[in-house]
Amino acid sequence: MKNFSKLGSGQILKQLLKDPDRKPLLKIALELVYLSFVFRTLPKYYFSRFLFKKDRTNIRDYYPGKLLYGIKPHFNENGATDVLENKLYFDFFYRPFNINLPKILMYNHRDVFVVNNMTHHIHTPSEFRALLQEVFNANKMNDSIFIKRTYGTYGGAKIYKLLSGQLGSDSPWINDLFQEVIQSGYLFQETVKQHAEMNRLNSSCLNTLRLATFINPDGQIEMINGYLRTSVTNNYVDNITAGGCAISIDLTTGRLDEFGYMSLKDGGIRMPTEHPFTHTIFSEYTIPYFEQAKQMVIEVAGYQPGLRLIGWDVAIGESGPVLIEGNSDFDVAGMDKMMKGVRSNPVFRKVLKEVNL
Ligand SMILES: Nc1ncnc2c1ncn2[C@@H]1O[C@H](COP(=O)(O)OP(=O)(O)OP(=O)(O)O)[C@@H](O)[C@H]1O
Ligand SMILES: [Mg+2]
Repeated sequence: MKNFSKLGSGQILKQLLKDPDRKPLLKIALELVYLSFVFRTLPKYYFSRFLFKKDRTNIRDYYPGKLLYGIKPHFNENGATDVLENKLYFDFFYRPFNINLPKILMYNHRDVFVVNNMTHHIHTPSEFRALLQEVFNANKMNDSIFIKRTYGTYGGAKIYKLLSGQLGSDSPWINDLFQEVIQSGYLFQETVKQHAEMNRLNSSCLNTLRLATFINPDGQIEMINGYLRTSVTNNYVDNITAGGCAISIDLTTGRLDEFGYMSLKDGGIRMPTEHPFTHTIFSEYTIPYFEQAKQMVIEVAGYQPGLRLIGWDVAIGESGPVLIEGNSDFDVAGMDKMMKGVRSNPVFRKVLKEVNL
């Protein structure tokens, strides 16, 4: 994975001043004062959510992060969140419903590893290497595996991609990985092979859809919005915090929007219209199996009624959608940016109404 440098505030400000699509500076200043007054907070989100762009006329539809993040506990009960926050429980909970999930090949708690109903006590990097080799031998279809911390992480942190070829060499990386894995709990998962059409967009990572669902006060499950995430830095994870780019999806057609968004630190004020590596144009791209992906999240959203506001991560595999994870504590501020203001979305208005916002 390449390391791309982050932009500083000075560089972002320079870009903003030169931006031909920004509002006049006086208007920006007045809007900042207005929003500070309305929400009684410094509206830093005015910049991160691109409200300085001329066409963002509905600035009151956006909400500050502190309000948006505060609403999740109202909808997602504490005790119910374990099935999402712990990636092992997630698999145990949703698999019996016959949902297509990536296969877990092994998991560990500290130095005890569980594979195929057997436990192994692993004390040295070379034992770890031998066990991983066994896992690869038993799953010949996989030439790589994903290793993820079982709980307590977000945003693509503590996720490693191990290629079978890396095992043979005496790479110090396996030793480091072993030292890290035995500090806590990890799961070792098959690498999901994505649909060829998703590779046409970008093949460096599994490009996942973030689909948000809401169980409304009448108990009906509604889709709020959807966006696609893809790495634009050759990373093997697509998370925005790891240098990803997000592009909104038209929920009816599965077609991507014209513009993508990155964090200001990664992309500055640029809104790309195509993938920088493959040059696939976003507005001409339709997600394969999109109907099935929507049906999948509508279905799974009903299995834990204690969780009413969820952001699902769905991959598109070779023969249909694969559920990667659900998030009860997800990036609602990112959603605000992608939906051009949460209040502009009819389903999210119901969410806001329930918490008197
Ligand atoms: N089994 C897999 N095969 C291929 N790519 C994967 C796999 N699991 C995860 N990824 C990639 O890594 C990204 C992050 O994975 P995941 O959603 O499980 O973790 P996360 O977002 O960091 O989770 P959390 O928010 O719970 O910490 C995915 O969106 C995808 O791009
Ligand atoms: Mg995720």
